[in-house]
Amino acid sequence: MPHIVVDNLKEIKYPQKTGDTEFLFQAENLIAVKTKNAQFLIKISKKENGFLIKYDKITRPLIKEIKKAYLAFVKLHNSNIIFENITGIKEKLPDINLLKITDNLSGIDIVEVGFGSGRHLLYLAKENPDKTILGIEIHKPSIEQVLKRVTLENIQNVKILNHDARIILSKIPSNTLESIYVHFPVPWDKKPLRRVINKNFINESVRTLKPHGFLHLRTDSENYFNYSLNEFLNFEKTELKVKKNIPYFVSSKYEERWIKQGKNIYDIYMYSLENSPKLNENFDFSFEKKLRNIDFTPKIYNNTVIHIEKEFKIDKNSSLLRATIGNFNKPEHLYILNKAKPEYFKLPAPIKDNYIAHLKLKRLFHG
Ligand SMILES: C[S@@+](CC[C@H](N)C(=O)[O-])C[C@H]1O[C@@H](n2cnc3c(N)ncnc32)[C@H](O)[C@@H]1O
Repeated sequence: MPHIVVDNLKEIKYPQKTGDTEFLFQAENLIAVKTKNAQFLIKISKKENGFLIKYDKITRPLIKEIKKAYLAFVKLHNSNIIFENITGIKEKLPDINLLKITDNLSGIDIVEVGFGSGRHLLYLAKENPDKTILGIEIHKPSIEQVLKRVTLENIQNVKILNHDARIILSKIPSNTLESIYVHFPVPWDKKPLRRVINKNFINESVRTLKPHGFLHLRTDSENYFNYSLNEFLNFEKTELKVKKNIPYFVSSKYEERWIKQGKNIYDIYMYSLENSPKLNENFDFSFEKKLRNIDFTPKIYNNTVIHIEKEFKIDKNSSLLRATIGNFNKPEHLYILNKAKPEYFKLPAPIKDNYIAHLKLKRLFHG
């Protein structure tokens, strides 16, 4: 982790500006920094020989912004660096095929959820050279492996997102997808809440699919097949096709294993027959009044979690709150500047789950 150690620090009243780096406020051992391209926090800890300055992981910007902030901070305090490991650290260039949760997801034609080794994802890319394929996967090693192949084979039409697919689907515009593939999802027989296929996921699939577009579930688990079929049957304006033991174009690693064991393989195709309303993405993450009676115990409502973890005092009237909010399966860690009209230090990603959590948070602590 890039950090520096300096010999001493002065008492400083914030805000301050050094060159084009602004130091906005101090909340206990956290200092808020604003550069031309980023806003983040740096963290000060007293050590035997001086003061250790590190960046805060939640608000982490690019390395070049961190370096700039450290140097401006040293200049502001007129101190000497007695140790640093920033000189040799180089920026790891982001892979152009790897999307972020804040990226726009229009222009995607096909989605594969949980692509694992990526055999089917790469097959889709090669079969559909003029289509854009988005693979969503929670397992980082699988992502790294597939990204390497995408670069090596110069595949242009694959995008990858490292996130929970159940959350990401809510960001894709309505009526835009031709197909969604969910092949051999983990059946989670003992923890059904972790299943990819659930009411909300089907709802979002129907919304994002073009009329006559389909979701393809392929599974070797009879239990998961029965469960999913029941869930699909709850939806109107859809058409279902069910198949058993029909070979598919690409055989996944799992499929080969199951076929050797003589297991049955089930397919469900769910066609969306409706034109869905436009996606509303105008999430208003503002607050009306100061958050009060803050309670630091985690709160979980269905899939939503709200946890104010810690308060860092700024002055008599304001503080910085470190919080975790959003979908229980993949919440966001963030800071809220709690003052007369509070604001997020950095806005949550504009997704439905974060917005639901934001509304709950206001209801809890707006008094
Ligand atoms: C049993 S593997 C199947 C992989 C691949 N589809 C195949 O057929 O070989 C299930 C994959 O789904 C991924 N996965 C599980 N839950 C997920 C979720 N909520 N969102 C995205 N990926 C998920 C897992 O990391 C794993 O790679």
